[in-house]
Amino acid sequence: MNPDSITIGRPDDWHLHLRDGAALRAVLPHTAERFARAIVMPNLKPPVTTTVLAGEYRQRILDARPDGSDFEPLMTLYLTDRTPPAEVERARASGFVHGFKLYPAGATTHSDAGVTDVRHIDPVLARMAELGVVLQVHGEVTEESVDVFDREARFIDDVLAPLAARHPALRIVFEHITTRAAVDFVRSARDGIAATLTPQHLLHNRNAMFAGGIRPHFYCLPVLKTEPDRAALLEAATSGDPRFFLGTDSAPHARHTKENSCGCAGMYSAHAGLELYAEAFDAAGALDRLDGFAHRFGADFYRLPRNAGTVTLWRRPTAVPASFVFGDAELVPMRAGGQLAWTLRRDPMPATR
Ligand code: NCD
Ligand code: ZN
Repeated sequence: MNPDSITIGRPDDWHLHLRDGAALRAVLPHTAERFARAIVMPNLKPPVTTTVLAGEYRQRILDARPDGSDFEPLMTLYLTDRTPPAEVERARASGFVHGFKLYPAGATTHSDAGVTDVRHIDPVLARMAELGVVLQVHGEVTEESVDVFDREARFIDDVLAPLAARHPALRIVFEHITTRAAVDFVRSARDGIAATLTPQHLLHNRNAMFAGGIRPHFYCLPVLKTEPDRAALLEAATSGDPRFFLGTDSAPHARHTKENSCGCAGMYSAHAGLELYAEAFDAAGALDRLDGFAHRFGADFYRLPRNAGTVTLWRRPTAVPASFVFGDAELVPMRAGGQLAWTLRRDPMPATR
Protein backbone atom coordinates (compact mmCIF):
# COMPACT_ATOMS: atom_id res chain seq x y z
CA MET A 1 0.00 0.00 0.00
CA ASN A 2 2.71 2.42 0.99
CA PRO A 3 5.62 1.56 -1.28
CA ASP A 4 9.18 2.33 -0.19
CA SER A 5 10.10 3.59 -3.62
CA ILE A 6 8.35 4.88 -6.68
CA THR A 7 9.69 5.21 -10.21
CA ILE A 8 8.11 7.69 -12.61
CA GLY A 9 8.94 9.11 -16.03
CA ARG A 10 11.42 12.00 -15.92
CA PRO A 11 9.34 14.99 -14.85
CA ASP A 12 9.06 18.60 -16.03
CA ASP A 13 8.31 21.76 -14.05
CA TRP A 14 5.64 23.75 -15.90
CA HIS A 15 6.07 26.97 -13.88
CA LEU A 16 9.45 28.12 -12.58
CA HIS A 17 11.32 31.32 -11.69
CA LEU A 18 15.04 31.06 -12.40
CA ARG A 19 16.03 34.76 -12.11
CA ASP A 20 19.35 35.77 -13.70
CA GLY A 21 23.07 36.19 -13.01
CA ALA A 22 24.38 34.86 -9.70
CA ALA A 23 20.87 33.96 -8.53
CA LEU A 24 20.32 31.86 -11.65
CA ARG A 25 23.61 30.05 -11.11
CA ALA A 26 22.65 29.36 -7.49
CA VAL A 27 19.22 27.83 -8.15
CA LEU A 28 19.46 26.17 -11.55
CA PRO A 29 21.30 23.02 -10.34
CA HIS A 30 18.36 22.13 -8.07
CA THR A 31 15.90 22.17 -10.94
CA ALA A 32 18.28 20.56 -13.44
CA GLU A 33 18.85 17.67 -11.05
CA ARG A 34 15.15 16.86 -10.91
CA PHE A 35 13.46 18.06 -14.07
CA ALA A 36 14.22 17.54 -17.76
CA ARG A 37 12.55 20.81 -18.77
CA ALA A 38 10.88 23.80 -17.18
CA ILE A 39 8.63 26.61 -18.32
CA VAL A 40 10.72 29.63 -17.31
CA MET A 41 8.83 32.68 -16.13
CA PRO A 42 9.72 36.01 -17.82
CA ASN A 43 9.37 38.36 -14.82
CA LEU A 44 12.95 39.58 -14.79
CA LYS A 45 13.81 43.25 -14.28
CA PRO A 46 13.33 44.42 -17.03
CA PRO A 47 10.84 41.75 -18.15
CA VAL A 48 11.42 39.33 -21.03
CA THR A 49 9.00 40.89 -23.50
CA THR A 50 10.45 39.86 -26.87
CA THR A 51 11.64 36.73 -28.61
CA VAL A 52 15.09 38.29 -28.93
CA LEU A 53 15.30 38.87 -25.16
CA ALA A 54 14.01 35.35 -24.51
CA GLY A 55 16.68 33.90 -26.81
CA GLU A 56 19.39 35.76 -24.90
CA TYR A 57 17.97 34.71 -21.53
CA ARG A 58 17.71 31.12 -22.74
CA GLN A 59 21.39 31.17 -23.67
CA ARG A 60 22.34 32.47 -20.21
CA ILE A 61 20.36 29.60 -18.67
CA LEU A 62 22.05 27.05 -20.92
CA ASP A 63 25.43 28.53 -19.98
CA ALA A 64 24.58 28.25 -16.27
CA ARG A 65 23.74 24.54 -16.41
CA PRO A 66 25.90 22.22 -14.34
CA ASP A 67 28.43 20.19 -16.36
CA GLY A 68 26.77 17.34 -18.21
CA SER A 69 23.23 18.60 -17.65
CA ASP A 70 20.75 18.23 -20.51
CA PHE A 71 18.15 20.47 -18.82
CA GLU A 72 16.07 22.33 -21.39
CA PRO A 73 14.56 25.75 -20.60
CA LEU A 74 11.19 26.39 -22.25
CA MET A 75 10.84 30.14 -22.59
CA THR A 76 7.84 32.43 -22.11
CA LEU A 77 7.27 36.07 -23.00
CA TYR A 78 5.83 38.70 -20.68
CA LEU A 79 2.70 40.34 -22.06
CA THR A 80 2.36 44.09 -21.77
CA ASP A 81 -0.32 46.50 -22.96
CA ARG A 82 1.89 47.12 -25.98
CA THR A 83 2.85 43.58 -27.08
CA PRO A 84 2.34 43.54 -30.87
CA PRO A 85 0.58 40.55 -32.51
CA ALA A 86 3.68 40.18 -34.73
CA GLU A 87 5.61 39.14 -31.60
CA VAL A 88 3.47 36.01 -31.50
CA GLU A 89 4.70 35.10 -34.98
CA ARG A 90 8.33 35.64 -33.99
CA ALA A 91 7.84 33.60 -30.83
CA ARG A 92 6.20 30.75 -32.68
CA ALA A 93 8.92 30.71 -35.33
CA SER A 94 11.69 30.63 -32.70
CA GLY A 95 10.86 27.11 -31.59
CA PHE A 96 11.99 27.95 -28.04
CA VAL A 97 9.14 30.18 -26.85
CA HIS A 98 6.28 28.06 -25.51
CA GLY A 99 3.88 30.62 -24.19
CA PHE A 100 3.03 34.16 -23.21
CA LYS A 101 2.49 35.07 -19.57
CA LEU A 102 -0.29 37.36 -18.48
CA TYR A 103 0.51 39.26 -15.29
CA PRO A 104 -2.24 41.66 -14.34
CA ALA A 105 -0.27 44.86 -13.61
CA GLY A 106 0.56 44.97 -9.91
CA ALA A 107 -0.61 41.43 -9.08
CA THR A 108 2.73 40.01 -7.93
CA THR A 109 6.53 40.24 -7.89
CA HIS A 110 7.83 42.23 -10.90
CA SER A 111 4.41 42.60 -12.48
CA ASP A 112 4.30 46.40 -12.72
CA ALA A 113 4.89 46.26 -16.49
CA GLY A 114 2.01 43.80 -16.87
CA VAL A 115 -1.35 44.19 -18.54
CA THR A 116 -3.66 46.90 -17.16
CA ASP A 117 -6.79 45.62 -18.98
CA VAL A 118 -6.95 42.31 -20.86
CA ARG A 119 -9.03 43.95 -23.56
CA HIS A 120 -5.81 45.68 -24.63
CA ILE A 121 -4.27 42.34 -25.60
CA ASP A 122 -7.25 40.78 -27.39
CA PRO A 123 -5.51 41.06 -30.81
CA VAL A 124 -2.43 39.31 -29.38
CA LEU A 125 -4.55 36.58 -27.82
CA ALA A 126 -6.36 36.07 -31.12
CA ARG A 127 -3.04 35.56 -32.89
CA MET A 128 -1.90 33.16 -30.16
CA ALA A 129 -5.05 31.11 -30.62
CA GLU A 130 -4.45 30.98 -34.39
CA LEU A 131 -0.86 29.87 -34.02
CA GLY A 132 -1.43 27.48 -31.13
CA VAL A 133 0.67 29.42 -28.60
CA VAL A 134 -0.25 28.82 -24.95
CA LEU A 135 -1.34 31.62 -22.58
CA GLN A 136 -0.13 31.32 -19.00
CA VAL A 137 -2.18 33.32 -16.53
CA HIS A 138 -1.47 34.73 -13.10
CA GLY A 139 -5.09 34.69 -12.01
CA GLU A 140 -5.69 37.44 -9.50
CA VAL A 141 -7.51 40.75 -9.74
CA THR A 142 -5.52 43.65 -8.39
CA GLU A 143 -8.20 45.97 -6.99
CA GLU A 144 -7.31 47.19 -3.52
CA SER A 145 -10.97 46.87 -2.58
CA VAL A 146 -10.99 43.09 -3.14
CA ASP A 147 -9.90 40.98 -0.18
CA VAL A 148 -6.52 39.33 -0.84
CA PHE A 149 -8.03 35.89 -0.23
CA ASP A 150 -10.81 36.51 -2.81
CA ARG A 151 -8.66 37.81 -5.65
CA GLU A 152 -8.35 34.50 -7.50
CA ALA A 153 -12.05 33.70 -7.34
CA ARG A 154 -12.91 37.22 -8.51
CA PHE A 155 -10.45 36.92 -11.39
CA ILE A 156 -12.25 33.83 -12.67
CA ASP A 157 -15.58 35.64 -12.90
CA ASP A 158 -14.35 39.08 -13.95
CA VAL A 159 -11.47 38.22 -16.31
CA LEU A 160 -10.72 34.59 -17.06
CA ALA A 161 -14.13 33.18 -17.93
CA PRO A 162 -14.94 36.08 -20.31
CA LEU A 163 -11.44 35.89 -21.84
CA ALA A 164 -11.76 32.13 -22.44
CA ALA A 165 -15.15 32.72 -24.06
CA ARG A 166 -13.84 35.52 -26.31
CA HIS A 167 -10.99 33.26 -27.48
CA PRO A 168 -12.52 29.78 -27.69
CA ALA A 169 -9.49 28.21 -29.40
CA LEU A 170 -6.86 29.70 -27.08
CA ARG A 171 -5.08 27.17 -24.89
CA ILE A 172 -4.75 28.54 -21.36
CA VAL A 173 -2.85 27.43 -18.27
CA PHE A 174 -4.34 28.88 -15.10
CA GLU A 175 -1.10 29.01 -13.13
CA HIS A 176 -0.59 28.03 -9.49
CA ILE A 177 -4.25 27.70 -8.62
CA THR A 178 -5.08 28.04 -4.93
CA THR A 179 -8.85 27.68 -4.49
CA ARG A 180 -11.71 25.25 -4.82
CA ALA A 181 -13.28 27.84 -7.13
CA ALA A 182 -10.34 27.49 -9.53
CA VAL A 183 -10.54 23.69 -9.45
CA ASP A 184 -14.26 23.89 -10.23
CA PHE A 185 -13.65 26.38 -13.03
CA VAL A 186 -11.05 24.19 -14.74
CA ARG A 187 -13.19 21.08 -14.37
CA SER A 188 -16.20 22.70 -15.97
CA ALA A 189 -14.29 24.74 -18.57
CA ARG A 190 -14.18 24.15 -22.30
CA ASP A 191 -11.36 22.10 -23.84
CA GLY A 192 -7.92 23.66 -23.81
CA ILE A 193 -7.88 24.93 -20.23
CA ALA A 194 -5.53 23.42 -17.65
CA ALA A 195 -3.92 24.42 -14.35
CA THR A 196 -0.64 24.04 -12.53
CA LEU A 197 -0.38 23.29 -8.82
CA THR A 198 2.46 24.15 -6.44
CA PRO A 199 3.77 22.01 -3.60
CA GLN A 200 3.03 24.68 -1.00
CA HIS A 201 -0.63 24.93 -1.95
CA LEU A 202 -0.99 21.12 -1.78
CA LEU A 203 0.78 20.83 1.58
CA HIS A 204 -0.21 23.96 3.51
CA ASN A 205 -3.13 26.19 4.26
CA ARG A 206 -2.96 29.83 5.35
CA ASN A 207 -2.42 28.92 9.00
CA ALA A 208 1.19 28.19 7.99
CA MET A 209 1.78 31.93 7.57
CA PHE A 210 0.78 32.63 11.17
CA ALA A 211 2.02 29.59 13.12
CA GLY A 212 3.21 31.09 16.42
CA GLY A 213 4.12 34.37 14.72
CA ILE A 214 4.35 35.76 11.20
CA ARG A 215 6.22 33.41 8.86
CA PRO A 216 7.47 35.32 5.82
CA HIS A 217 8.84 32.21 4.15
CA PHE A 218 5.28 30.93 3.74
CA TYR A 219 4.23 34.08 1.92
CA CYS A 220 3.71 33.68 -1.80
CA LEU A 221 1.19 34.84 -4.38
CA PRO A 222 -1.48 33.80 -4.79
CA VAL A 223 -1.43 33.58 -1.02
CA LEU A 224 -2.10 30.24 0.76
CA LYS A 225 -5.82 29.68 1.23
CA THR A 226 -8.14 27.73 3.55
CA GLU A 227 -8.03 24.04 4.45
CA PRO A 228 -11.08 23.24 2.26
CA ASP A 229 -9.26 24.93 -0.64
CA ARG A 230 -6.12 22.89 0.00
CA ALA A 231 -8.18 19.70 0.14
CA ALA A 232 -9.81 20.53 -3.20
CA LEU A 233 -6.41 21.18 -4.81
CA LEU A 234 -4.97 17.92 -3.51
CA GLU A 235 -8.02 16.04 -4.72
CA ALA A 236 -7.62 17.58 -8.19
CA ALA A 237 -3.88 16.90 -8.34
CA THR A 238 -4.29 13.26 -7.36
CA SER A 239 -7.45 12.60 -9.39
CA GLY A 240 -5.68 11.56 -12.57
CA ASP A 241 -7.39 14.38 -14.47
CA PRO A 242 -4.87 15.48 -17.15
CA ARG A 243 -5.90 19.13 -16.80
CA PHE A 244 -3.98 19.38 -13.51
CA PHE A 245 -0.19 19.15 -13.61
CA LEU A 246 3.02 20.09 -11.86
CA GLY A 247 4.33 23.66 -11.68
CA THR A 248 6.40 24.43 -8.60
CA ASP A 249 6.34 28.23 -8.88
CA SER A 250 9.68 28.00 -7.09
CA ALA A 251 10.42 31.72 -6.63
CA PRO A 252 13.73 32.51 -4.93
CA HIS A 253 14.21 35.73 -2.97
CA ALA A 254 17.17 36.69 -0.80
CA ARG A 255 16.53 36.12 2.90
CA HIS A 256 16.73 39.80 3.83
CA THR A 257 14.07 40.72 1.25
CA LYS A 258 11.63 38.24 2.79
CA GLU A 259 12.51 38.81 6.45
CA ASN A 260 11.61 42.47 6.05
CA SER A 261 8.90 44.92 7.10
CA CYS A 262 7.60 44.57 3.54
CA GLY A 263 8.64 41.04 2.60
CA CYS A 264 8.63 39.74 -0.99
CA ALA A 265 6.17 37.12 -2.21
CA GLY A 266 7.61 33.79 -3.29
CA MET A 267 8.60 30.43 -1.83
CA TYR A 268 11.67 28.50 -2.90
CA SER A 269 11.04 24.81 -3.55
CA ALA A 270 13.33 23.82 -6.42
CA HIS A 271 15.67 21.92 -4.05
CA ALA A 272 12.75 19.58 -3.30
CA GLY A 273 10.71 20.15 -6.44
CA LEU A 274 9.56 16.56 -6.80
CA GLU A 275 10.01 15.26 -3.25
CA LEU A 276 7.42 17.64 -1.78
CA TYR A 277 4.79 16.50 -4.28
CA ALA A 278 5.59 12.88 -3.36
CA GLU A 279 4.73 13.74 0.24
CA ALA A 280 1.41 15.24 -0.80
CA PHE A 281 0.51 12.35 -3.10
CA ASP A 282 1.59 9.79 -0.49
CA ALA A 283 -0.59 11.44 2.14
CA ALA A 284 -3.51 11.12 -0.28
CA GLY A 285 -2.67 7.46 -0.96
CA ALA A 286 -2.14 8.35 -4.62
CA LEU A 287 1.53 7.82 -5.41
CA ASP A 288 0.44 5.84 -8.47
CA ARG A 289 -0.96 9.10 -9.90
CA LEU A 290 2.30 11.04 -9.60
CA ASP A 291 3.58 9.91 -13.02
CA GLY A 292 0.65 11.49 -14.85
CA PHE A 293 0.89 14.73 -12.86
CA ALA A 294 4.67 15.13 -13.07
CA HIS A 295 5.64 13.45 -16.33
CA ARG A 296 2.78 13.06 -18.83
CA PHE A 297 -0.03 15.62 -18.52
CA GLY A 298 2.00 18.81 -18.88
CA ALA A 299 3.95 17.56 -21.89
CA ASP A 300 0.73 16.48 -23.56
CA PHE A 301 -0.94 19.84 -22.92
CA TYR A 302 2.05 21.75 -24.33
CA ARG A 303 2.18 19.32 -27.28
CA LEU A 304 5.75 18.36 -26.50
CA PRO A 305 7.16 14.83 -26.41
CA ARG A 306 7.16 13.10 -23.04
CA ASN A 307 10.66 12.72 -21.61
CA ALA A 308 12.59 9.48 -21.97
CA GLY A 309 14.11 8.01 -18.82
CA THR A 310 12.88 7.70 -15.27
CA VAL A 311 13.58 8.94 -11.77
CA THR A 312 13.09 7.02 -8.54
CA LEU A 313 12.01 8.42 -5.20
CA TRP A 314 13.01 6.47 -2.11
CA ARG A 315 11.19 6.73 1.18
CA ARG A 316 14.28 7.85 3.02
CA PRO A 317 14.64 11.15 4.86
CA THR A 318 16.90 13.89 3.49
CA ALA A 319 17.90 16.89 5.56
CA VAL A 320 17.19 20.34 4.12
CA PRO A 321 19.83 22.98 4.88
CA ALA A 322 18.79 26.07 6.85
CA SER A 323 19.79 28.14 3.81
CA PHE A 324 21.58 28.05 0.48
CA VAL A 325 24.16 30.47 -0.91
CA PHE A 326 22.35 32.91 -3.22
CA GLY A 327 24.91 35.15 -4.89
CA ASP A 328 26.17 37.28 -2.04
CA ALA A 329 22.97 36.68 -0.06
CA GLU A 330 21.20 33.69 1.48
CA LEU A 331 18.17 31.78 0.27
CA VAL A 332 15.82 30.10 2.75
CA PRO A 333 14.18 27.07 1.13
CA MET A 334 10.89 25.35 1.91
CA ARG A 335 11.34 23.02 4.90
CA ALA A 336 14.55 24.86 5.88
CA GLY A 337 16.40 23.00 8.62
CA GLY A 338 13.88 20.16 8.44
CA GLN A 339 13.57 16.92 6.54
CA LEU A 340 12.04 15.66 3.32
CA ALA A 341 10.41 12.25 3.53
CA TRP A 342 11.67 11.18 0.09
CA THR A 343 15.06 11.09 -1.59
CA LEU A 344 15.40 11.34 -5.36
CA ARG A 345 17.62 9.45 -7.74
CA ARG A 346 17.79 9.80 -11.50
CA ASP A 347 17.94 6.32 -13.04
CA PRO A 348 20.59 5.39 -15.59
CA MET A 349 19.17 5.25 -19.11
CA PRO A 350 18.75 1.68 -20.31
CA ALA A 351 21.13 0.64 -23.08
CA THR A 352 19.49 0.84 -26.49
CA ARG A 353 21.29 -2.21 -27.84
C1 NCD B 1 6.69 35.01 -7.93
C2 NCD B 1 8.09 35.66 -8.01
O1 NCD B 1 8.69 35.87 -6.95
O2 NCD B 1 8.57 35.90 -9.11
N1 NCD B 1 6.22 35.09 -6.59
C3 NCD B 1 5.29 34.30 -6.02
O3 NCD B 1 4.90 34.57 -4.89
N2 NCD B 1 4.79 33.26 -6.64
C4 NCD B 1 5.79 35.66 -8.90
C5 NCD B 1 4.51 34.87 -9.12
O4 NCD B 1 4.52 33.79 -9.70
O5 NCD B 1 3.45 35.35 -8.70
ZN1 ZN C 1 5.26 32.22 -10.51
